[in-house]
Amino acid sequence: MYLIENDLIALRQYTHDDDYDMYLCWSDIDTQKGYNGIFDQSFEEFNKFDIDRFKFWVTAVDKATNESVGTLRLGTGEVPDLVIWIYPQFRNRGYGTQSFILALTYLFTHDSYTEISAGCYETNTASLKMLRRIGFERLSFEDRKEKDCFTGKPIVQMEFRISKDKIL
Ligand SMILES: CC(C)(COP(=O)(O)OP(=O)(O)OC[C@H]1O[C@@H](n2cnc3c(N)ncnc32)[C@H](O)[C@@H]1OP(=O)(O)O)[C@@H](O)C(=O)NCCC(=O)NCCS
Repeated sequence: MYLIENDLIALRQYTHDDDYDMYLCWSDIDTQKGYNGIFDQSFEEFNKFDIDRFKFWVTAVDKATNESVGTLRLGTGEVPDLVIWIYPQFRNRGYGTQSFILALTYLFTHDSYTEISAGCYETNTASLKMLRRIGFERLSFEDRKEKDCFTGKPIVQMEFRISKDKIL
């Protein structure tokens, strides 16, 4: 059953049947760069997590082909952050932008959030374009300075926010 859908995609609850797609996605170097983290787990180590710890964790499905194209998950906190993984073979086809908008629409409609945040490393062009196109605004005083785990150089995780009235 879908939580929300548009003409192109639908969002359904993430289940452990999605774990292998997620594992392959984490094994992709661009995914790791997108999160500034090295991933070297085996599948057996990877899939021991509790999905119910997250209030909102969905898989995006292409309605025409019924293929799972990615995953989105909401974090915790006063202004929770929405994170996204479009599986490598489905990137740069609009799925990221479309599924992010659908997830925000669902969250702002069904929960009491007035704002949702998103983080993006300064080198992540696709994520940056996606957030800007959707209407996220930069909150630079909340930026975080980190060390790039691949280059050892400093890298900034830029903070973004979007308010309910921008989406609904
Ligand atoms: C970031 C991510 C979610 C974007 O999803 P996507 O489906 O590839 O993005 P879309 O097809 O909706 O494209 C969004 C914009 O980025 C552009 N874009 C997509 N891939 C790009 C690339 N590799 N290089 C430059 N621009 C790119 C698109 O042209 C589009 O720009 P536009 O709005 O000006 O037309 C996806 O690339 C991904 O999962 N990356 C790995 C994990 C990650 O970085 N997650 C985000 C962490 S904050």
